[in-house]
Amino acid sequence: MTDAPSYGFDTLQIHAGARPDPATGARQTPIYQTTAYVFRDAEHAAALFNLQEVGYIYSRLTNPTVAVLQERIATLEGGVGAVCCSSGHAAQIMALFPLMAPGRNVVVSTRLYGGSITQFSQTIKRFGWSAKFVDTDDLAAVEAAIDDDTRAVFCESIANPGGYVSDIDALAKIADAAGLPLIVDNTSATPYLCRPIEHGATLVVHSMTKYLTGNGTVTGGVVVDSGKFDWSASDKFPSLSAPEEAYHGLKFHETFGPLAFTFHGIAIGLRDLGMTLNPQAAHYTLMGIETLSLRMERHVDNAQKIAEWLENHPHVEAVTYAGLASSPYHDRVARICPKGAGGLFTVALKGGYDACVKFVDSLELFSHVANLGDTRSLVIHSASTTHRQLSEEQQKAAGAAPNVVRISIGIEDAKDLMADLDQALNAAHG
Ligand SMILES: Cc1ncc(COP(=O)(O)O)c(C=O)c1O
Repeated sequence: MTDAPSYGFDTLQIHAGARPDPATGARQTPIYQTTAYVFRDAEHAAALFNLQEVGYIYSRLTNPTVAVLQERIATLEGGVGAVCCSSGHAAQIMALFPLMAPGRNVVVSTRLYGGSITQFSQTIKRFGWSAKFVDTDDLAAVEAAIDDDTRAVFCESIANPGGYVSDIDALAKIADAAGLPLIVDNTSATPYLCRPIEHGATLVVHSMTKYLTGNGTVTGGVVVDSGKFDWSASDKFPSLSAPEEAYHGLKFHETFGPLAFTFHGIAIGLRDLGMTLNPQAAHYTLMGIETLSLRMERHVDNAQKIAEWLENHPHVEAVTYAGLASSPYHDRVARICPKGAGGLFTVALKGGYDACVKFVDSLELFSHVANLGDTRSLVIHSASTTHRQLSEEQQKAAGAAPNVVRISIGIEDAKDLMADLDQALNAAHG
């Protein structure tokens, strides 16, 4: 299809990037289960390797099934290009890789998925990179944390686990004034609820493992490029603006303009880091995205009803859902996520840690798993699992204190979910 900008989200989630298979007419995007592609001749091969012609060489770099997914997500996010990779965590490394170098840092929100906090606070140190954690609601602290070695600012649109909403416009303004890209993890919101690029983000990353695939069958990630950042405005991003040693001195920004980041991600990121998405996983994710808006509407509807009901439950101390009138993020969510506050929130239980553990063990319809964004409703006690590596102070800052459970509301009947939650809350306090 020609991606006419007038098509609505529901149309684009089914058609963007796809067309009937040119060889067979197959209506559904085929799974191109191949490692390599036959070159027409030696000249064709040389043109592909020189990036003078766009095409397929080897599936670590590019694959036609994955390419459809990349174009679909880039379109839904309002970006110019996207690079799929093997997980959400891989996407975060792929986003930072062209920007960072030993000694450089990234300013990141304290309200992140626990695995991301560990990745940024511990693992990236092995590359000589570092992260400065700040409460991104404190804009003066964000400004103060940026120094000459900072190369990006990173936050989640709706933060896992607490469902906190970042003021993307304000953070983008600060990053922009400092000549830095803002990277937004849009996993919990999805482009249906939030389009970070419209609020000033430079790059958007996703764990496609969650709502994009939507049924717990895939591990995948993606980096979407807005194409709006001027990588040559300073000497801070030499991989993109100066001759890139890793690609025989090619100047990516000069050569590819707004697509510089995307081409770098494929030609160097995937080529050398090898965090590639396989075509089978791309197929499942394409299937999932076809119904993204329908699922997100139901997730939001159910989450709103259940959060309101839980807030008044006698065994519950607090609920963090940004869609609640009592939430400090209630006004912000209407601006950042106009179609709803997502399906993810935490519940603080009266009875603390012990009540949380009993509650999780007593649920029957909810699955106790380390995942979110499934059609099924899911639950986890973050402090003893996903956020276990963090100090209690970090757990609290991330919204994963020992007395809270994280709930990912699925698309089942809300009344069945409430009945299950009710019996488990009563069992936890029985
Ligand atoms: C918000 C968020 N970002 C990133 C990740 C990492 O994604 P993956 O598990 O696909 O590596 C997760 C995983 O839970 C997440 O919740």
